[in-house]
Amino acid sequence: MERTLIRTEDGSATLYVPELNEHYHSVHGAVQESLHIFIRAGVEESGKEELRILEAGFGTGLNAYLTLLHAHRNRLSVAYHTLEKYPLSPEEYHLLNYTEHSAEPEDLAGIFRQLHESPWETDLRLTPGFLLHKYRTDFREIGFSEQFDIVFFDAFSPEVQPALWSEAVFQKYLRALVPGGILVTYCVKGTVKQALRKVGFTVKRLPGPPGKREMLRAVKPV
Ligand SMILES: C[S@@+](CC[C@H](N)C(=O)[O-])C[C@H]1O[C@@H](n2cnc3c(N)ncnc32)[C@H](O)[C@@H]1O
Repeated sequence: MERTLIRTEDGSATLYVPELNEHYHSVHGAVQESLHIFIRAGVEESGKEELRILEAGFGTGLNAYLTLLHAHRNRLSVAYHTLEKYPLSPEEYHLLNYTEHSAEPEDLAGIFRQLHESPWETDLRLTPGFLLHKYRTDFREIGFSEQFDIVFFDAFSPEVQPALWSEAVFQKYLRALVPGGILVTYCVKGTVKQALRKVGFTVKRLPGPPGKREMLRAVKPV
């Protein structure tokens, strides 16, 4: 997949896929968006100190990186499982400037690179409070034997990948969540809300990150 580097409005980088006319993050600010949707509306909202997170789309590793830093600062314990079918090459991830946007503590220098260099299909403890497991797979095909507190649903948009936002896929992620578990995503499209509700989620629109009016948080009923 051809990808080009773009600078978003908050100065942080993202990638653009010409063949899909799609960006990996909001052009209004990649770091800003990830903090708003996944850290604040996901991790902080859960209120838990021990968390199991499942991410659909590891991509640039930005959500994983910000979660690791958040866990480090707040003494959380996170098991982070993430799926990716089209991993970045070292040439691509070396260009991403997220460490300049994150007040990374000295003892975590090099951790962003380690997220990418970590082997697939294995548990790896990167810090005392952060365990990483990357699956190199299609996120429609994997079956989950474990349960999670939060799903970060961060696929390309339904306009370019409609099959990833289907009832069949959401059913799988609903099953993977504990009762009361949450799924957060940037997408508020009507068909996405309908599909989430149809499989049993309670869906709420929340204020979006700068430049986007809304985001979604879906909760699995207790
Ligand atoms: C919107 S990007 C966001 C990725 C990531 N969360 C980030 O912060 O960079 C969507 C990601 O989903 C991946 N992807 C697309 N289709 C996929 C599929 N069928 N299975 C697994 N990953 C897929 C893409 O390669 C891309 O990395």
